[in-house]
Amino acid sequence: MEVAIIGANGQLGSDLVEVFGKEAIPLTHKDLDVTDFESLGILKELKPEVIINTAGYVKVDDAELYPVEAFQVNAIGALNVAKIANEINAINVYIGTDYVFDGTKDEPYTEEDVPNPLNVYGLSKYAGEIFTKNYCKKYYVVRVASLFGKAGARGKGGNFVELMIQRAKSGEEIKVVNDIFMSPTYTKDVARTLKEFLKLKPEFGIYHMVNEGYCSWYEFAKMIFNLLEWGVEIKPIKSNELERIAKRPRFSALRNKKLENLGLRMRPWKEALEDYLKEKGYI
Ligand SMILES: NC(=O)c1ccc[n+]([C@@H]2O[C@H](COP(=O)([O-])OP(=O)(O)OC[C@H]3O[C@@H](n4cnc5c(N)ncnc54)[C@H](OP(=O)(O)O)[C@@H]3O)[C@@H](O)[C@H]2O)c1
Repeated sequence: MEVAIIGANGQLGSDLVEVFGKEAIPLTHKDLDVTDFESLGILKELKPEVIINTAGYVKVDDAELYPVEAFQVNAIGALNVAKIANEINAINVYIGTDYVFDGTKDEPYTEEDVPNPLNVYGLSKYAGEIFTKNYCKKYYVVRVASLFGKAGARGKGGNFVELMIQRAKSGEEIKVVNDIFMSPTYTKDVARTLKEFLKLKPEFGIYHMVNEGYCSWYEFAKMIFNLLEWGVEIKPIKSNELERIAKRPRFSALRNKKLENLGLRMRPWKEALEDYLKEKGYI
């Protein structure tokens, strides 16, 4: 199976390339721009069976200031990829986000829950989901969340784990919000699960794909330093103490209900975090 991976040098994309191995056709931003329909013509020549679109405008706060740019990549980009995928009869996998939800639920969101994004980023990704669903027949929307992976997010200049480590090393005071809950997820686990998932040829539709469990960002930070065995002090704070441009859902944990029904399980986030720290050589 030939799998074209858009955003191949990104945090998730690079792990997909590694996990899919010989099956992967890596495509970086230099090879194609999802906002430019003409540039997607390369996919007509390559004719992959599957296209995984990880391209994203991922800066949540900047998206409030530059909504057109965010929609260009996350929504129009998804529309362009959906059209091409349909034309070449490829399966189109769009990488979605937990930020499509408003965070008012008290238990993890399943695929049956109705999105109601609170910010431009979430809305642009939700628009991307709808274009994916409505413009190509063979599609999967795979929602992931709070990613950490070896490469770090190119668009964000790293990931939360690296940010914590960097702050600890510089001796800065570390303050982390304890009133926002999410499902931390290792990109390598998403890549491995997605490979297994595609082999099963499940029904087309929306799927959640996160490591099991959830925590606050404060709890996540504490676990990082526990695993590292670094005696770092972290101060829990409320999210309203941070001046951030975009609103965030208070609770955006996801549950992989449809994966569970397929017999696919993702390990708990703590185990995944430990492996990440090992992969990076910290432990
Ligand atoms: N990071 C998270 O916590 C998180 C959470 C939920 C969902 N997601 C979603 O997961 C996906 C992957 O995120 P990530 O953390 O791997 O981010 P990333 O490291 O920034 O990867 C995004 C990739 O897309 C490429 N790209 C950006 N704009 C493009 C365009 N117009 N055309 C073609 N390629 C383009 C980037 O290349 P350049 O850098 O060269 O532009 C980069 O390789 C995104 O769709 C994001 O919305 C991420």
